[in-house]
Amino acid sequence: MKTLRDLAKPWISELSMYEPGRPIDEVARELGFEGADAIDKLASNENPLGPSTKAVRAMKKAAAKMHLYPDGGGYYMRHALAARLDVSPNQILLGNGSNELLEFLAHVFLGPGTNLVMAERAFVVYRLIARAFQAEVHDVPMRDHTHDLDAMLDAITPETRLVMISNPNNPSGTMVDQRAIDKFMERLPEHVIVGMDEAYIELLPERKQVDSLRYLRQDKKVVVLRTFSKTYGLAGLRIGYAVAPEELIDLMHRVRQPFNVNAMAMEAALAALDDERHVRRTRRLVAQGLQFFENAFTEMNLPFVPSVSNFILVRVGNGRAVFEALQRRKVIVRTMDVYRLPEYVRVSIGTMEENQRCVQALKTVLASSG
Ligand SMILES: Cc1ncc(COP(=O)(O)O)c(C=O)c1O
Repeated sequence: MKTLRDLAKPWISELSMYEPGRPIDEVARELGFEGADAIDKLASNENPLGPSTKAVRAMKKAAAKMHLYPDGGGYYMRHALAARLDVSPNQILLGNGSNELLEFLAHVFLGPGTNLVMAERAFVVYRLIARAFQAEVHDVPMRDHTHDLDAMLDAITPETRLVMISNPNNPSGTMVDQRAIDKFMERLPEHVIVGMDEAYIELLPERKQVDSLRYLRQDKKVVVLRTFSKTYGLAGLRIGYAVAPEELIDLMHRVRQPFNVNAMAMEAALAALDDERHVRRTRRLVAQGLQFFENAFTEMNLPFVPSVSNFILVRVGNGRAVFEALQRRKVIVRTMDVYRLPEYVRVSIGTMEENQRCVQALKTVLASSG
């Protein structure tokens, strides 16, 4: 008798699965902790301040209307974003998190015989999605944990459809600057689409943010991806957006489900966009947290990768053993095996109390391992 695997498309069972940051409740259940509240999750680059109070108020108000389908066209959200970014609403598409938008890009551009170019240690989801669509992945070595854009240009072939740039990059926390991207764009062959993944861009002060939208104004084949999961503290709702030429947005619309973004998410994101104070508080907290971890790691003689984002890579020896020992001490961080950095863990910036507990636990764990 044929098994379900026999009946599945043959490449599907070969795909690896994404290993997300471990949920607090799951760790509490597994390790028999009484209250999940006492666990610090510093594993998924979430906002330790939570959502803006304006977003919470909007969600409460929206709750009574959840028997209605959402506006599938996302009219208000797209218009608000368009006004803010000075683009046309037709250049914006909403997604169920920016991950869904990556999948739309793959639907439109990737398949057997095509390839995706990415930095070897950029966000692993690019690779997983490309493989799910049977495209090849061209991995490009990084320089000092940073995208090497010249090498990425050299890796482009006639079959390349998409180049992904994670800026700032997860998991390294590094970024490429405007000059480097300008140069890259000038040399980019015209058969290639560039995906600029800016999941963490709002954490940077405005003067340090790369202006990727300028490439759209220059009619380049660029799609900018952003999310409300990080700076805006709405990861649980799943909402992100793409900004791209109208023709590309039109193609992506064709592969999306009619109600891909839920109504509660759109109400919350609209309100969050309006809360600059929350964004500024988040930036301040992250900057202080980064400084705290950098000082602590320096004092502990632990090599780390200087980060501009809300997480930091630190070399601890046996990353998985340290991850497990920290978990027993109620701190969840992230192993980096999937990025072939087994000696590292990635720590998300939390509240100052969480950061302090994490460093304290790390000191204890490293002292007892020897
Ligand atoms: C670089 C990068 N892009 C995209 C995402 C996914 O974000 P979303 O929650 O919008 O799907 C993440 C989340 O970790 C990320 O690190």
